[in-house]
Amino acid sequence: MRPHRDFIAVTDFNRDEIIETIALACELKERRSRNEQVRPLAGQTWGLIFHKPSLRTRISFEVGISDLGGNAIYITEKEIELGKRETISDAAQVLSRYLGGIMIRTFSHADVLELAKFADIPVINGLTDYSHPCQIMADIQTVYEKLGRHDDFKLTYVGDGNNITNSLVELAQRLNFELVVGTADDTLPDMKLIEATNKLGNSVVKIEHDPVKAVAGAHVIYTDVWASMGQKDQADDKARKLRPFQVNEQLVSHADKNCIVLHCLPAERGKEITDGVMDGPHSVVFDQAENRLHAQKAVMTILMEKK
Ligand code: CP
Ligand code: NVA
Repeated sequence: MRPHRDFIAVTDFNRDEIIETIALACELKERRSRNEQVRPLAGQTWGLIFHKPSLRTRISFEVGISDLGGNAIYITEKEIELGKRETISDAAQVLSRYLGGIMIRTFSHADVLELAKFADIPVINGLTDYSHPCQIMADIQTVYEKLGRHDDFKLTYVGDGNNITNSLVELAQRLNFELVVGTADDTLPDMKLIEATNKLGNSVVKIEHDPVKAVAGAHVIYTDVWASMGQKDQADDKARKLRPFQVNEQLVSHADKNCIVLHCLPAERGKEITDGVMDGPHSVVFDQAENRLHAQKAVMTILMEKK
């Protein structure tokens, strides 16, 4: 096996590396604005495997790899039929002979772990049913830019306990902040992960079923769709349970007066977030989307540098 590192979970980076990612993302953002070239992926071709749709992840990875001097191939389920035409382990070993790295977005988290186990090139998780670590690196960069700090804030995630929530909990294992998850009784994130996080004694993670109490004094409010990709058949049921957790102007008025509102996008306007909030003065959702590009370039650069 060639020495390499993967980015499957936020916790694949230690605290110092997360802080370094934020700083490098901000630096790369600045250098890009000056049209400066930074090319650590020169001569490399990366494979981007997508089994679910994407706007931000696909485009920001393709542009990011090109910015870093590399080339990207977009691969859908139709081409390689991962795990069907041949085993994931065989595919991983073959792909490793051609590519400099793989980004994969799929359903099963176990499939990504399997791919990473047998690939001897970096594997990046571009979203599974369980987690979405690249998104969370862009989010913490955005928090840092807007609040001026990466610790000591209250972040309230309001809505479905999903892949975004789990990755926020992973972030709470590495940085020190108060994480409140405002959600219904049966739309919880991975409670074992929360238990393990609270045992570490850095951040405190709490579940709160009252949305107003959840956001009280929050510096950051974060929401996401009520039914994730692959769960759209549960959309009506989730909407019924999560309606009280809609991020609207009334709810935001209970947070810190200078709070920022995050949404990983795509949003279902009028469901989990209103137009008034999404287009209002607290919203930073488009800066957050832009930061996918810069944060992922930082992640790939760090994976290249620290094998
Ligand atoms: N936030 C995010 O991952 O967006 P896409 O699904 O469009 O990639
Ligand atoms: N939870 C959402 C995130 C989309 C970026 C989903 O998995 O569909």
